[in-house]
Amino acid sequence: MFLAKTKEDLQQVLNSNKDKRIGLVPTMGALHEGHLSLIQKAKAETDFVVVSIFVNPKQFNDPKDLENYPSDLEGDLKKIQEFADCAFCPDINNVYPDDFKEKYFELDHLEEVMEGKHRKGHFQGVCNIVYILLDLVQPDKAYFGIKDYQQLAIIKHMSKVNFPQIEIVPCDIIREENGLAKSSRNLNLSRDEFEKASIIYKNLLEAREMIRSNKSIDQVKEIVQNNFQQENIQLEYFEITDSETLLPVDQKKSKSRGFIAAYVGNVRLIDNLELIE
Ligand code: PAJ
Repeated sequence: MFLAKTKEDLQQVLNSNKDKRIGLVPTMGALHEGHLSLIQKAKAETDFVVVSIFVNPKQFNDPKDLENYPSDLEGDLKKIQEFADCAFCPDINNVYPDDFKEKYFELDHLEEVMEGKHRKGHFQGVCNIVYILLDLVQPDKAYFGIKDYQQLAIIKHMSKVNFPQIEIVPCDIIREENGLAKSSRNLNLSRDEFEKASIIYKNLLEAREMIRSNKSIDQVKEIVQNNFQQENIQLEYFEITDSETLLPVDQKKSKSRGFIAAYVGNVRLIDNLELIE
């Protein structure tokens, strides 16, 4: 596995592998089995897998969140060496030199709902780094998790406009045994919080059951809100939206998805589930 510490290193590695089908897996490190599943899929579908590991400060709206974001580069490199051909682990100054001009991306309402509403500027930050990575690597395929469904929708939109030749590949959510979606942020949960955090997926499953039986959207929302209140866990939002537009639905319709963001202790967690196919 090549270790590229700068854009220039990366360019060199890519130049000597020009004839290969390239797969790109962007990450922020503290890698877990969710990330590894993306990397394994990339390895199965392409000839040369680039994994980027870069904690992108531009997508953190909360400085405390950035400060507490876990990192373990040495451990990460060990985990991926079997599957990746190149790890791209640049310094912040190499990615964002002093003369860097931030791009503005037209994301329409996609950045005004849910994560976009609660984390101002987050998706512009995500698009800036993903644009840089797609532009540098020019992969045939780039892999993103359904765990961050709204991010995936936004990246698909941004990529269609700027890199129509690149295929964006959605990847399934990998979960802990208690149902909690794997996340780098889970490392910041205590044992007790880790168990409590299973409430998120449990409620998405319960919502799916209720939606498929006789409950209305409003009733489901009220029940889920009460469930969180009873457990004393701060629910930031529970939304039921159209799977394509991500706009809230107030009546049952096909292609609907449930989305939760909640704080367990100080750790902000998100998850989602298809409620109606
Ligand atoms: P990060 O949170 O490190 O996630 C990297 C990729 O792994 C994302 O596409 C994410 O959706 C996926 N992923 C995370 N947890 C997963 C799980 N439990 N199952 C399946 N896939 C999972 O998302 C980011 O980094 C950043 O925003 C990034 C796209 C790298 C831009 O900085």
